Amino acid sequence: MSESAKDVAGEIRRLREEISRHDYYYHVLDDPRIEDREYDRLFARLRRLEEENPELVTPDSPTQRVGLKPRPGFAAVEHDPPMLSLRAIYTEEELVSFDATCRRELKRESLDYVAEPKYDGLAVELVYEDGRLLGASTRGDGYTGEDITSNVRTIPSVPLILGDREVPVPGRLVVRGEVYMARSSFEKLNRRREDAGEAPFANPRNAAAGSLRQLDPRITAQRPLKIVIYQIAEVSGIAPRRQWDVLDRFLPAWHLRSKSEPKALCSSVSELMDFYGKVLADREEADLELDGVVIKVDRLDYWDLLGTRSRDPRWAVAFKFPARGAVTRVQDIIVQVGRTGRLTPLAILEPVEIGGATVSRASLHNRGEVERKDIRIGDHVLVERAGDVIPYVVRSFPERRTGEETPFSMPTGCPVCGSEVLMSEDGKDDRCASLGCPAQLKERIKHFASKSAMDIEGLGDKTVDALVEKGLVRHATDLYRLELEDWITLDRMGEKSAGNIMASLEESREVSLPRFLVALGIPLVGEHLARVLAAHFPSPAALEGATPGDLMDIDGIGPEVARSVATFFADEGNLEILAKFRELGLDPGADLPEGEAHRPLSGLTVVFTGRLERWTRGEAADLAESLGARVTSSVSRETDYLVAGPGGGSKLDRARELGIPVLDEEEFAAMLRDVASE
Ligand code: IVH
Repeated sequence: MSESAKDVAGEIRRLREEISRHDYYYHVLDDPRIEDREYDRLFARLRRLEEENPELVTPDSPTQRVGLKPRPGFAAVEHDPPMLSLRAIYTEEELVSFDATCRRELKRESLDYVAEPKYDGLAVELVYEDGRLLGASTRGDGYTGEDITSNVRTIPSVPLILGDREVPVPGRLVVRGEVYMARSSFEKLNRRREDAGEAPFANPRNAAAGSLRQLDPRITAQRPLKIVIYQIAEVSGIAPRRQWDVLDRFLPAWHLRSKSEPKALCSSVSELMDFYGKVLADREEADLELDGVVIKVDRLDYWDLLGTRSRDPRWAVAFKFPARGAVTRVQDIIVQVGRTGRLTPLAILEPVEIGGATVSRASLHNRGEVERKDIRIGDHVLVERAGDVIPYVVRSFPERRTGEETPFSMPTGCPVCGSEVLMSEDGKDDRCASLGCPAQLKERIKHFASKSAMDIEGLGDKTVDALVEKGLVRHATDLYRLELEDWITLDRMGEKSAGNIMASLEESREVSLPRFLVALGIPLVGEHLARVLAAHFPSPAALEGATPGDLMDIDGIGPEVARSVATFFADEGNLEILAKFRELGLDPGADLPEGEAHRPLSGLTVVFTGRLERWTRGEAADLAESLGARVTSSVSRETDYLVAGPGGGSKLDRARELGIPVLDEEEFAAMLRDVASE
């Protein structure tokens, strides 16, 4: 290697280390220590050097966190030592007995324990060699897991390069921890999925699992996952002596997020009980699901002495929290019809209190779920809620049946309009075949008017129900033909409110193309995909000739979405509707000058607030504008997105008040990555 080539390699290495360190301050410590501008400069410099020297790009570079292509499947990874499970205990007596057994086996009068929260996520293993992330895998059956390296690489709190300040980096390090989705992020994600007509995740754990086991790491990169590490499974050259040091010194020194609080070093059952009580009391405040406390013998040499019993170590127990669940009875199973005609069975429950809220209904999602869980009308069922999350039926109790229970059967006719019900190919889902079904119509119009679509102010659910029931509206286009006299025939609709709705409808004729595409309710197309489509097709008419093949050429559009979009724009009925919209003056994108509509963010109005890490606000604004967005300084109804860093203040409040989507910097960056790669 020539001298100058060595210099470049050296600079690249230094840049990566520096950037990784700042990622660590920001994502692991929540304590940024550099100006955005400076971070950007480092990142841009690294990217440039790598572009000029592609042979020097390595997977541990911060530039490589995203962007890998999907793979055909997951490779198997062996776990040595195996990833064990933990014996669960539920009472103080069991804890007393655990402590007694440990002391007896070790022949010790007293013993220290480390108590940590039990995180309810997905167990993963990370392997580092010479300080570089080499691989990541799921737990699998404990002995063999799946290789999810490219997915885990996208999680910002996973260091690609270990820190090495206080403790030297070992030649080989294998650590284990839990990947999870914060509750707040989970709720946001679910809202987005529902807007897109996709099934919401049942709880944060499922959302994390679904996000991590994606064959396409670009999808994982868009999901707000985090990691917490709690164990060293293998380390070369260094021998930590206590679990306390592992959490308090070693993991932090290597920049592995060990979430050092809360944890406790306890030397008695009563101290352990105090810790348990404290974590349980704070459970609702935690932004991640905790399902108990893990109690481990502190000294690591004792772990070997105590050994394992079948698949559980004898040096640790999981002291579980009581489940936020309750047993109740299914009074009935009714069927609801959604916007796309999907039939969803809903369990009507004898009201029961769970975690401070009364639960009287729970979605059973689809026919497949009812069959799999064998839920019958009249059954006793276990219902759980994770935090403030949607209740769900965990299981039924067939042993408590009296013979009076009735198995559920999906109706063969739509419960609302009586039309034929079609079953999906996999036999799990059912749909009402009629586009004229009033239930679907109501849902479609509600969707059309919703915030992320046409955003018609004042047009609430009750009003839509009444419009459809009175036969005033058979399609969203009819909304634009209604006169003041029509509106005021509705109950509790005064001239003023009617005027406001009409004004809002009038304003909506200027809607942006992405919003209009959302409003059309194309199956599987939510806000994100609508933007992707709008970046490639200047108007709805341009989509009319698109084949699934054309659509699949677009990065970020897979076969299912391509099929759904092509089918939608090939359907005679839908084309007639688009023509009607056009007659009404609703033809977004059509007036834009040549080229304008192709800019990926055109039609969107964006506001920036707070402190951004990657860019200054000015740079972010320039970037957004260069992609076609309009950047304004205050939040109004016209705003499509507020991008907020820490310290967002009043703009953030205003956006929440108006229901305007708020993106954090990561989400905004992911959106740019998506649109810029096209
Ligand atoms: S230590 C022998 N510590 O719980 C296994 N596990 O039920 C040692 N878990 O597979 C694991 N939080 O996925 C440990 N603070 C914590 C944990 C934790 C969650 C999970 C982990 C493990 C499962 C066992």
